[in-house]
Amino acid sequence: MADNLIVEIERMKKSELSHVVDIARKEIYPGASKNAMSKWIKSLENFHGRNQYVQWYVARIKASNEIVGFVRWLAYDFDFENKRVILMQSWLAVKGEYQHKGVGTQLIQSSLEDVCKYWRKKGVKPVMVFVETDDTMNVARKFYEKVYENPDSVVIKDVWEPGEGTVFYFKKLG
Ligand SMILES: CC(C)(COP(=O)(O)OP(=O)(O)OC[C@H]1O[C@@H](n2cnc3c(N)ncnc32)[C@H](O)[C@@H]1OP(=O)(O)O)[C@@H](O)C(=O)NCCC(=O)NCCS
Repeated sequence: MADNLIVEIERMKKSELSHVVDIARKEIYPGASKNAMSKWIKSLENFHGRNQYVQWYVARIKASNEIVGFVRWLAYDFDFENKRVILMQSWLAVKGEYQHKGVGTQLIQSSLEDVCKYWRKKGVKPVMVFVETDDTMNVARKFYEKVYENPDSVVIKDVWEPGEGTVFYFKKLG
């Protein structure tokens, strides 16, 4: 990887939220206003009533400090008795000019490793990851199939409207 593409993956700081909002507006929801997107992302912290279990990460170009991507992890389901957790990955994007250069792969791999470390330190074993995307998003689908190494998947057609379905990917963790 070229020097100008060495990225560091770190937990997002609150002060970095506006960078995440800008990337989300451009790469995921074109047309959304900054204000609306910012409110939406902030509200997500209470989306499942599990705000203490939400972890956002950013990818930062080492040479310039520019934030070029982000991802959000959620502790989706707990088995409290046996101390196990199922993780959900959502809200992932890399800035257009940095796409298809390996940033997304690093973002997922490093942040997942860090999230797993976080839970293991608490004595909780992460047992599975899942992620959902639109069935028409071919790049995202190819990406998930590669980064999660042939995950199990379920396609559900015509969910949003005819022709717009959804696909879930599931990867058991070792
Ligand atoms: C999906 C996304 C995060 C991938 O991040 P990325 O940094 O571009 O991905 P990587 O460079 O790590 O690519 C890893 C693999 O994904 C697939 N992939 C990535 N971009 C691709 C493209 N434009 N066309 C086809 N396959 C692609 C390839 O299999 C690639 O492996 P390869 O380099 O050996 O071909 C990025 O494309 C993106 O932000 N898209 C817009 C937002 C989005 O779709 N978010 C996810 C759903 S909400």
